[in-house]
Amino acid sequence: MRAFTFAMSPPDLLADSRVLWRMLRGLPRSGNARERLQAFYAPQATRYDAFRARLLHGREELIGRLPAYSGSVVVELGCGTGENLERFGERLPALSRLTLVDLCPALLERARARAARHANVEVVEAEVGAYRSAQPVDCVYFSYALTMMEDWRAALANALRLLRPGGTLGVVDFYVSSATPPARHVRHPAWERWLWRRWFAHDGVSLDPGHLEALEAAMPQGLLLERRGSVPYLPGVTAPYYIFIGRKPATSTTPPAWRSDCAS
Ligand SMILES: C[S@@+](CC[C@H](N)C(=O)[O-])C[C@H]1O[C@@H](n2cnc3c(N)ncnc32)[C@H](O)[C@@H]1O
Repeated sequence: MRAFTFAMSPPDLLADSRVLWRMLRGLPRSGNARERLQAFYAPQATRYDAFRARLLHGREELIGRLPAYSGSVVVELGCGTGENLERFGERLPALSRLTLVDLCPALLERARARAARHANVEVVEAEVGAYRSAQPVDCVYFSYALTMMEDWRAALANALRLLRPGGTLGVVDFYVSSATPPARHVRHPAWERWLWRRWFAHDGVSLDPGHLEALEAAMPQGLLLERRGSVPYLPGVTAPYYIFIGRKPATSTTPPAWRSDCAS
């Protein structure tokens, strides 16, 4: 009861009401990707960070584990408000460049305000599969963005193409297992696979077991951490998420699982 009272405290609920209302209505189905993301996120933009802090778990851990060293060129694909740049802490000024890429104008406006305080951070409006970098990239990461990419194969293929050989790809995101995952992986029960896939699909978030399969096929030595995190306003309920960190092989072509029309 205490947990419930805390989770439903009136100030939070009032402040979150626009976010919750937009999420209840779901991701619009009409318009192009940019228009749909804008319609979905613009009403949530001012409250996005506070609400997602209670939903998008593991972002600190992902960024803490990324080998983003002095002089590194780093790209976040699907950056939202750019809040993740603050998770680099003291490492941020030493990066050669951190590029934040997104397609939603309302969230990019907030990312630009954040980036203005850092000479080595740039913000780019682009579709993730189409973004190109002028220089080879040391580290690319997706933070709760891969599940929102309509063409996730193109997004992954582009991430791999951006990376220099030996560069690092990091992903943190929601997921559910397949019905028959590899023995080393968690297997989620059928009811849970059904529930979360439908729950998230309403907001345009696609929990496709193919994401993890493609990541592991491309980078078999990658680190995989399978976790669960709390969900705002649902006391006691946790949703599965994973952290994956892999290195682009020093010599390889784009693996078949990542190929798409945009990857050529
Ligand atoms: C759930 S948000 C995550 C934002 C941020 N990475 C974070 O951790 O808070 C997903 C982001 O992906 C962006 N996005 C979705 N599809 C995209 C695409 N095709 N190209 C660029 N950005 C996209 C959305 O605009 C949104 O900002």
